[in-house]
Amino acid sequence: MLRHRRLKMSTSVTCSYQAPSTSQEEGILRIFRRCCSSLHTHSKMLTDRKRPFVTVTYAQSVDGSVSSSSSFPLLLSSPESLKATHILRRLHDSICVGIRTALTDDPRLTSRFGNEYFKNKELKHPRPVLLDTLCKAHTDLKIISEEVKGRENPFVVCSHSTCLDEEKEKFEARQQVLKNAGCCIVECKSTNYRIDLEDALSKLYDAGVKSLMVEGGARIIESFLHRMDLVNQIIVTISPQYVGGLKALNTLLPMDENKTFPRLKNVEWIPVDEDVILYGDVQDDNK
Ligand SMILES: NC(=O)c1ccc[n+]([C@@H]2O[C@H](COP(=O)([O-])OP(=O)(O)OC[C@H]3O[C@@H](n4cnc5c(N)ncnc54)[C@H](OP(=O)(O)O)[C@@H]3O)[C@@H](O)[C@H]2O)c1
Repeated sequence: MLRHRRLKMSTSVTCSYQAPSTSQEEGILRIFRRCCSSLHTHSKMLTDRKRPFVTVTYAQSVDGSVSSSSSFPLLLSSPESLKATHILRRLHDSICVGIRTALTDDPRLTSRFGNEYFKNKELKHPRPVLLDTLCKAHTDLKIISEEVKGRENPFVVCSHSTCLDEEKEKFEARQQVLKNAGCCIVECKSTNYRIDLEDALSKLYDAGVKSLMVEGGARIIESFLHRMDLVNQIIVTISPQYVGGLKALNTLLPMDENKTFPRLKNVEWIPVDEDVILYGDVQDDNK
């Protein structure tokens, strides 16, 4: 039987949770508390820097695949791990995916499961953020077309600067279609013909996003892993399967001055069904 507890902290999230009765619930609540506490710890520092708290989270097979291929979705998480993901979604202001995930999976990106863990039973969904350099999204995607009670319209983050002159008119027309469908367009700088993540985060912060959960797909995760200075925590669900498919990381990350690759700090892990959810911090609080 779940019992109510309250975390005393001033974050933008409702950190009111229910006390567990099983070790599985205790595990999920450990992630919940840890995430609330990290959001709280970082809130002041991130206000100074004017960018959101960033959680990168994804599910992978033992061999590091996030799906079988770019054009096929593959459900890797167990039902309980999925619940943990939905709880994490609810703790963040916004949730971000890349255009290919939007086109392939057509996800809702809502927080539908795990409501029993919250004292406030009113569902709260993160605002979707679509990283879509050239505004290729179509308006019947669920995050654009479906009205969800209590959720704000999606942000579409794009970059005009990646367009060839002869394509600018078509780009602007596509942008207008998305605007007409209710999307909030965020124009950013580009790096290597893709969204400049630092600029995107700063603009999203100005638009009210204080915490962002990055959920995929592979190229988006890889880009954030190459900019670990922008990431605060990483949460990976490891499913006991082999896939040999699309990997979250294909290229070497830069080493630090001690010639070591990036490592997570304050690492914890919990078993959930047959999965393991591993989480750790990226940045020092003072960095
Ligand atoms: N296991 C999981 O947790 C999980 C979660 C989500 C998705 N997935 C899977 O991941 C697969 C899709 O992944 P994907 O790698 O093909 O696509 P993706 O990461 O969803 O989207 C990549 C696209 O985003 C755009 N983009 C804009 N700025 C970017 C930046 N700074 N860095 C990288 N991309 C940027 C680019 O589109 P332009 O070329 O138009 O600029 C790029 O091609 C699907 O199979 C999906 O099922 C798995």
